[in-house]
Amino acid sequence: MMAPDVAVVLPAAGQGTRMGEAVPKQYLDLGGAPVLVQTLRALAAHPAIVQAVVVASPDAVADAHAVLRVAPSRLDVKVVAGGGTRRASVQNGLDALDESVRIVLVHDAVRPFVALQLLDDVIRAARTHGAAVPAVPVTDTLRRADGETFGETVDRNGVYAVQTPQGFRRDLLERAFFEIADATTDDAALVAALGHPARLVRGDRRNLKLTTPDDLALARALWPAWTMEA
Ligand code: C5P
Repeated sequence: MMAPDVAVVLPAAGQGTRMGEAVPKQYLDLGGAPVLVQTLRALAAHPAIVQAVVVASPDAVADAHAVLRVAPSRLDVKVVAGGGTRRASVQNGLDALDESVRIVLVHDAVRPFVALQLLDDVIRAARTHGAAVPAVPVTDTLRRADGETFGETVDRNGVYAVQTPQGFRRDLLERAFFEIADATTDDAALVAALGHPARLVRGDRRNLKLTTPDDLALARALWPAWTMEA
């Protein structure tokens, strides 16, 4: 068992308007608690994870604090205000990390179905390779479409759907954010630009990202089975 030196940054400062509800999706109920709290409970199950930093939009920091009163007490949970871009939000999260943290996971607040095994695989690969990204092979047929007519079929050979948590050695992630100016690329691409390409970790198909109202309905249907397993 490695030292408990892992923190999770949860960027949740976006508008979250795709759900079509007034409340951002991470605050909606799933199994009796907000999605964000269920996500934190799943993260708290891993013994190496000691800290979670929730990055909330500046006007939602107070709400986030209120929601997190029911968060798991084993974790040191901080709330910080986000910035104007996702990158600025993650940077604010990094700035709030405890000194003891060596491995940082960046995880979508709206992925509550994150299994212990996946956390373990990502943490292990991040320690060994510096950066780790979970992904699952795409199984649907992919086609381009324009409105209601189809164009070409996309060759899905070697095409993966990327999930979170994405794991990094803290020193690499901080250096990537400091040294690489490109605002558009994701965290793993920034670290790759330093010469540390992310290791592909086998993802978990249950690890849904709750983006649309349909996703939330599906998540609520799956929840009882998930809590029986965990
Ligand atoms: O909008 P998009 O799906 O790219 O957002 C990805 C994640 O980054 C979301 O979880 C969102 O809450 C977060 N984000 C953020 N700060 C921003 C913009 C997005 O934390 N300024």
